[in-house]
Amino acid sequence: MVRCIRVPKKDGEAVRSVLREKGLLDLDSRIRSDSNCLLIPILSASYGDYPVVDAELRVQEHRETDYRELLDIPDDLKKELPNSHDVIGDVLLLKLTDDLLPYKHEIGEALMRTTPNIRTVMLDSGVKGDFRIRELEQIAGTGSSETVHREFGVRMLTDPAKVYFNPRLATERARVASLVRDGETIIDMFAGVAPFGTVICKCARPKIVYSIDLNPEAEHFAKRNAELNHIDNLVPMTGDAREVVKDLPDADRIIMNLPQMAEQFLPDALAKAKPGATIHLHKIMERTELGSFRDGLGPKMAELGLGMHIDRVSEMKTYSPTMSVYVFDIVRD
Ligand SMILES: C[S@@+](CC[C@H](N)C(=O)[O-])C[C@H]1O[C@@H](n2cnc3c(N)ncnc32)[C@H](O)[C@@H]1O
Repeated sequence: MVRCIRVPKKDGEAVRSVLREKGLLDLDSRIRSDSNCLLIPILSASYGDYPVVDAELRVQEHRETDYRELLDIPDDLKKELPNSHDVIGDVLLLKLTDDLLPYKHEIGEALMRTTPNIRTVMLDSGVKGDFRIRELEQIAGTGSSETVHREFGVRMLTDPAKVYFNPRLATERARVASLVRDGETIIDMFAGVAPFGTVICKCARPKIVYSIDLNPEAEHFAKRNAELNHIDNLVPMTGDAREVVKDLPDADRIIMNLPQMAEQFLPDALAKAKPGATIHLHKIMERTELGSFRDGLGPKMAELGLGMHIDRVSEMKTYSPTMSVYVFDIVRD
């Protein structure tokens, strides 16, 4: 039995919040309704003029939401604990400093307990090679890193250990999809598991989306994603985008999400773009270099006989203290 006060329902929320503020609310028991009153559990002998009664109340489960509160690690290491991580489907990807590696399993378990809908936690040592694949080690939970990620109602099968996938591009994918006009021919030159193509085909009405990647695993996942989402106008292809685009029809829109070096492929994209077509070029750079890159791109392409202008530039995310990832919407003249 728990000590409660009997409070008319109309005063219930106000009384509960004052009790909580004063530290008099019993947080281990759940408030219960009793005809037109609430039974509110208290830690004091009484409160105000409300009648005191003993009642059976259900136990209130507490779920810790900050994984750091569950960890027993030296104080000087606590400041190194990451404030953020990525979640792809039910897989949580976490980067740790070398100092924290001896505690990786405890950290993984704490994240399993505090993060809803997570099946496994993987230590992420960063992306490597041309395929931008992640080196992953399971530190908590079960199963592999293959998972289904949901974005704006679209399901995407992926495995960050086999093919690059960036859950942080959801807003950019939705933005591009919102620009697509009916009947467009679209080429995604560095497509991964085809998240751009899948979102575009589900949310807009393109004629066709060619989804190219150098990594053969990407084509396998992209095909599965087309099936999963009942899409029949997505064409996954394996190969070097520079070569593959040569055999494709001219495009109304080209997506270039290879931020380390996409501009090296820009002449190939411009050669394939219809007049008035838009190219979405992603680029990582020092923030101080934005102006010179933006002003220099047009003249550089003009030297190759390729007319273009930049319609819009936006900073998608910070990459390091001095660098950011930008997207340039480039129009073919
Ligand atoms: C940043 S990822 C793109 C991921 C995808 N757009 C997304 O939103 O998740 C870049 C991709 O480009 C692929 N890639 C690298 N060089 C390539 C090339 N020359 N031709 C085609 N794809 C390439 C990599 O395998 C990788 O999957």
